[in-house]
Amino acid sequence: MKKLISINHKIKDFNNKQIYVAGDKSLSVRFILLSSLASGKSVANNLLISEDVINTINCIKKLGIKIILKKNYCEVFGKGLWGYKYKNNIVLNVGNSGTAARLISATLVDSNKYIKITGDNSLKKRDMLRIIKPLESIGVKFKKNNGKLPLIIRGSNNLKPINYIEKLGSAQCKSAVMIAALKTPGTTKLKCLPSRNHTELMFKNVLKTSIKTKKYKDNDLIEIKGLNNFNSFNYKIPGDISSASFFIVLTLLLKNSKLTIKKVNINQSRIGVIKILNMMGANIKFRNKKIYKGEPIADIFVTSVKKLKSINLSSKLNSSAIDEFLLIFLVAGVSKGVSVFNNLSELNKKESKRLDWGYKILKMMGINVSKTGNNGIKIRGNPDLTLNKNYFIKDFLKDHRVFMVSVVAALALGGNWKIYDPDSIKTSFPNFLNIIKNLGGKIN
Ligand code: S3P
Repeated sequence: MKKLISINHKIKDFNNKQIYVAGDKSLSVRFILLSSLASGKSVANNLLISEDVINTINCIKKLGIKIILKKNYCEVFGKGLWGYKYKNNIVLNVGNSGTAARLISATLVDSNKYIKITGDNSLKKRDMLRIIKPLESIGVKFKKNNGKLPLIIRGSNNLKPINYIEKLGSAQCKSAVMIAALKTPGTTKLKCLPSRNHTELMFKNVLKTSIKTKKYKDNDLIEIKGLNNFNSFNYKIPGDISSASFFIVLTLLLKNSKLTIKKVNINQSRIGVIKILNMMGANIKFRNKKIYKGEPIADIFVTSVKKLKSINLSSKLNSSAIDEFLLIFLVAGVSKGVSVFNNLSELNKKESKRLDWGYKILKMMGINVSKTGNNGIKIRGNPDLTLNKNYFIKDFLKDHRVFMVSVVAALALGGNWKIYDPDSIKTSFPNFLNIIKNLGGKIN
């Protein structure tokens, strides 16, 4: 693919369009990892085919598990909880995927050899201490550990269950400890800040393994009894709300458009973006709601709105919208009034420093924006904003979400944009630009 795209035309309004987005990334990665630990053949339909998922598959294959992929249909031949084959000098390259790096580490707690886990330049900058610490206390060894990739990890045959307190609101940390608990004797106990709960739902409704959960006002308690093998399973992956959000915001920002996005996962722990946009004056609706293996799924219906208003967001919604903040900042940038978002330090620990990128992109667009003391951002929106200058987006560590939000801004608000690294979308949403073109977006 070319190294940059240019956008010089606003997209025209579209009416009553219907689209599908690709399968959910969190669920696709979890399917591969958990089915690789099941006994027998598991099958997924509508698996996300993106670099993050393909890298996860390739890593699991290196651990001796057979996987067959035909388009987005996938078969995984698990050999039970202790079915991985640990050869000498295994290197697992997870590319850009923080979820894969952190969750695969947790599947290796029984390895009897050192295994190297590495990734791309963006992932090498990200914090791994957050999973190294709990895994070490279970009994896992790390060689030459500076808290970053590459990790060199070796399991133990003397694992001990822990009481883990999760303080970041990170589903990756929570899930890493939960997965490690599967191979650990006794009961592992977790007290977690709320975050996406796909792993809990899969443990309960799909693996049917021993898990207890309790929801309190500020925390979730989870208990997992280890050493129980589980059977293989089938899973139909619903659409990814994070991918859908780019089209939701595009539709919202146009004058008179309507869009339906079919069969999207609308898990409460993921739909912060919808709640926030509706509080800002949007009217996004769910239709044809169903529950599939504990996960709610629906068609999302969105229309353009005349007036969007600012928001002073309670940090309680941060974790359920964690991957959508660049889009939310963009909407705040064209909403009437001053929006304030706080306690977003985790945003600067993603594929790129997204809090900084949100600030940079809005500033470049001429929006009045400032950073606040507590890792926050204050945005004075301009409902009359139209863009007519040149805008360059580059050097963003190939962060797929920086790329896609820039495309949405360019198509909705105008101006002459040059946006680098279109390849970045391959990690999470390779079909993104095709859907944009189908909706009428002109991209060179
Ligand atoms: C994910 C959890 C989130 C999210 C990431 C996927 C997951 O990260 O940003 O894109 O699948 O568990 P944290 O849990 O670290 O916030």
